[in-house]
Amino acid sequence: MQKNDLVGRLAPFQQQHVLRFWDDLSPAGQKRLAEQVLALDLPLLARLFAGEQQHVDWVEVSRRAEPAPAVRIADRESTTGGKLGFTRAAAIARGKHALAAGEIGIVLVAGGQGSRLGFEHPKGMYPIGPVSKATLLQIHCEKVVALSRTYKATPLYLMTSPLTHEEQLDFLAKHNRFGLAEDDLVPFCQGTMPAVDAATGKLLLESRGALFESPDGHGGMVAALAKSGAIDHMRRRGVKHLFYLQVDNPLVPIGDPEFIGYHLLAESELTSMAVAKQEPMDKLGNFAMIDGKASIIEYSDFPRDVAEQRDATGGLKFWAGSIAVHMFGVAFLERMLSLKDALPFHIARKKVPHVGGDGKMVNPAEPNALKFERFIFDLLPQAKNPLVVEFAEAEVFAPLKNAPGAPKDTEAYVHQFLLAQHAAWLRAVGASVADGSRVEISPLYALDAEQVKQRVKPGEQFGGDRYLR
Ligand code: UTP
Repeated sequence: MQKNDLVGRLAPFQQQHVLRFWDDLSPAGQKRLAEQVLALDLPLLARLFAGEQQHVDWVEVSRRAEPAPAVRIADRESTTGGKLGFTRAAAIARGKHALAAGEIGIVLVAGGQGSRLGFEHPKGMYPIGPVSKATLLQIHCEKVVALSRTYKATPLYLMTSPLTHEEQLDFLAKHNRFGLAEDDLVPFCQGTMPAVDAATGKLLLESRGALFESPDGHGGMVAALAKSGAIDHMRRRGVKHLFYLQVDNPLVPIGDPEFIGYHLLAESELTSMAVAKQEPMDKLGNFAMIDGKASIIEYSDFPRDVAEQRDATGGLKFWAGSIAVHMFGVAFLERMLSLKDALPFHIARKKVPHVGGDGKMVNPAEPNALKFERFIFDLLPQAKNPLVVEFAEAEVFAPLKNAPGAPKDTEAYVHQFLLAQHAAWLRAVGASVADGSRVEISPLYALDAEQVKQRVKPGEQFGGDRYLR
């Protein structure tokens, strides 16, 4: 590729400065930079910088929102299944049937940078097991192995990013995929987006020979599934629905038959797991219906007067907080791929170190750049028959987001949830767990309280630090 050809592409968008150091680069360096430039969608970047993406007035929208259709915990516990009429027994049977028919795949997104945690490897490699020190990836993979043993081989689609791809794949290879069969682990790499200077819209250079780029958000999953061939793999394997989760939450009940069952009984294209908010302004996305379409309104956009509204029973009208666990129909994702711009870009102001015009590094003290990301939950408004299913927070949600010292979502916080859950499973079958003892249960030993019942006898005693595997 000649420099002139690249200038020809960049100049109409006033971005030719990215070639400022071209003549100092080696032929290989020039080739790499040329590839980055050729992959840019320059008209899109110009539109995003010009603010041409749809602007939503969330305060106005929130005021006319209604709660989303939901199966609440009380409905799950009632014999009639509540308003929607799907009983727990029917949902579990339907979910188990789909798992046994091999129709369910798991999609785990692990392409993020994990900047808040400050861990030097991809977050999935964080040793989170309170006793075992099992990593997040090990826990997720072993849940999928356990599902495959209980029902039928269930493939795991693992989304990485250029930042996390190689290291995670090496790690998984070193550990024999934690027991997953070769055809049951399908890694796929998400795309990236460049960052631009917030004042001028100019592309930023990470080094003299490379644009600054970062992963394009968990919403990048949809395009990456198609581009990588993962959707073809689903077709070949007969996978019709995907259970989606994020790498940082080791509590997710991966492949929970009841959750899958509600999704199928409701003929929903997108079903989401929710927890009941404790406080109106809890930092969770809010499920809501807007003009008949499901949406998540981020907590930072949700006005207090709406958040504080109550329903007839005195509970929060907008009780449903998102924990980023969903079921998607594969046909729905394919329909989304055929729509242009089904997922909009969100713009965030961030501090981005970059090479200045004089070739020296600039380390900004304040946010200087715009980054562009897609969010998976923006698929919600497109989904037919959307549904929310409530689960107890203690059973499903403890994400590892922050370094020690933060009030929530730290390693200590996650440990507390995992240990409390496993002790509760043991106590539910009549076993005893001594105060102060730490008993961790591997997914290969039991996936849930039901499976613990098959392994542990009433009256059995557990003390000290134990890892049941
Ligand atoms: P977060 O938004 O919490 O980001 O991602 P993060 O990268 O883990 O952490 P911070 O914000 O930098 O501290 C939620 C989930 O989405 C995945 C992450 O790996 C995590 O599982 N994700 C995020 C992607 O897979 N790709 C992305 O581009 C962004």
